[in-house]
Amino acid sequence: MTRHDRPLILSLFEMGSVVHLSPGTWTHPEDRRHGVDSLSFWRELGGILEQGRFDQLFLADVVGAYDSAEDGLRSPVSQGYQIPALDPLILLGALAESTDHLGLAATFSTTYEPPFAFARRLATLDALSEGRIAWNVVTSYLKNAAQNFGLPDQVQHDTRYEIADEFLDVVYKLLLGSWDSDAVLGDTQTRTWADPDKVRYIDHKGRHFSVRGPHLVAPSPQRLPVIFQAGSSLTGMAFAGRHAEVVFLGGNSPEAIRANVETIKSHAAASGRDPDQLRFLAAAQVIVAPTEEQAHAKAAEIDRCRSDWAALQKNGRIPGLERYPHEELVADIIRRRDPGHEILIRGWREGQRVKDLRGSAGAGGRARNGLRVVGTGAQAADALTHWAHESGLDGFNIGNQISFGTIRDFVELVVPVLQRRGLARTEYTPGQTLRERLLGAGPGPHSTHPSSRYLDPSNLKLPAAPFGARLTPA
Ligand SMILES: Cc1cc2nc3c(=O)[nH]c(=O)nc-3n(C[C@H](O)[C@H](O)[C@H](O)COP(=O)(O)O)c2cc1C
Repeated sequence: MTRHDRPLILSLFEMGSVVHLSPGTWTHPEDRRHGVDSLSFWRELGGILEQGRFDQLFLADVVGAYDSAEDGLRSPVSQGYQIPALDPLILLGALAESTDHLGLAATFSTTYEPPFAFARRLATLDALSEGRIAWNVVTSYLKNAAQNFGLPDQVQHDTRYEIADEFLDVVYKLLLGSWDSDAVLGDTQTRTWADPDKVRYIDHKGRHFSVRGPHLVAPSPQRLPVIFQAGSSLTGMAFAGRHAEVVFLGGNSPEAIRANVETIKSHAAASGRDPDQLRFLAAAQVIVAPTEEQAHAKAAEIDRCRSDWAALQKNGRIPGLERYPHEELVADIIRRRDPGHEILIRGWREGQRVKDLRGSAGAGGRARNGLRVVGTGAQAADALTHWAHESGLDGFNIGNQISFGTIRDFVELVVPVLQRRGLARTEYTPGQTLRERLLGAGPGPHSTHPSSRYLDPSNLKLPAAPFGARLTPA
């Protein structure tokens, strides 16, 4: 079976917020996002995904608002643009209870909060969900987020990745090195709960963190939740090569995605990892109906509900875009306003001008990342398979356009076609951890993943964060 004959990884890209990626669609008459703060919303969504045998629910997150110097909080707050937003880790705890098989991935930033307490929460979730947790490692990009954690401005881009390397090193030490897998005995005869010879301090002393340990949670089913990552800069892709098991890629064409897949795989190989142990996802917007005509009508109605505003002001970097000359390149405007903001500059299509975006944020203008398909279930299945084949992708992170209409349509119309073609699973395997399902190997990290070195506790004495050249003390 080649890589593209095996089932696609199916993931739903979501956020505990009224607006994640589809600004304004909460105004659609069938949309249910008014209930996003309720447990029943997430319980129902989890049920739909398990009915479709989805691999996982993937929760994005930001720890600040998309405010701007020009209009403060007005725009994001009035549009519900990623604010208010629930804490994804707590949401995963609730979802662990209301679902049985679904993988549960939460975004958490390495830039602001130190690693010890987070490692504990992560391991707790992995234990309670019986090994269904993934962590999407981000380094964050909002100035307001930095200000929420006592910093005047964003930490410089590459320094954020340097911190992330060390943060991960601490998490690896705690989750894999601090407790041996057989440390817990629960022996009533000898009255020994855990063998003290198999539990230890980690004594991490690095440039950014000092953590003595021990880790406070006993080894969980996966030991380390599956590591996801979605950085798109050169530094971000090198970081993905070192750490990520599942990479979430941006990109507007299969060719662009393939180039990123190859780059990240070569980084993985260069850091001693087996590149076949990585999986790659891209975003997809899928709007389907029983006939092509109905699908286009549905898409047009959804697009009518979208707000141009929020799409154009993402990151609060280009408020009042409509006031700029219509011939100006969007990338030039961003470059002028925020020279360091490569992620935003790359986000816009080559040559896109202000006039191209006016009134078009919903459709082509906004589809700046990943695939957009409108059609029948079979047409969507064809498009997804074609993209996966052309780009080297293993699956897709599907965006909810309206809740729960578009994902329910996907489950009812696309999944059965993929299943008939052997490209989507028909059943879950009971007791399987998320890592086993995604990577087809054991429940713990692969032997070439940098975390696994700490299964040998003598490696805890290695110099801190020995991953990137930049990390050697100046
Ligand atoms: C497809 C995609 C999804 C992302 N989702 C999030 C997110 O939910 N929260 C977040 O803080 N950053 C998110 N990011 C940002 C990155 O993970 C990363 O922290 C940021 O892009 C800065 O790194 P870079 O310059 O290497 O891209 C996402 C990036 C991409 C490409």
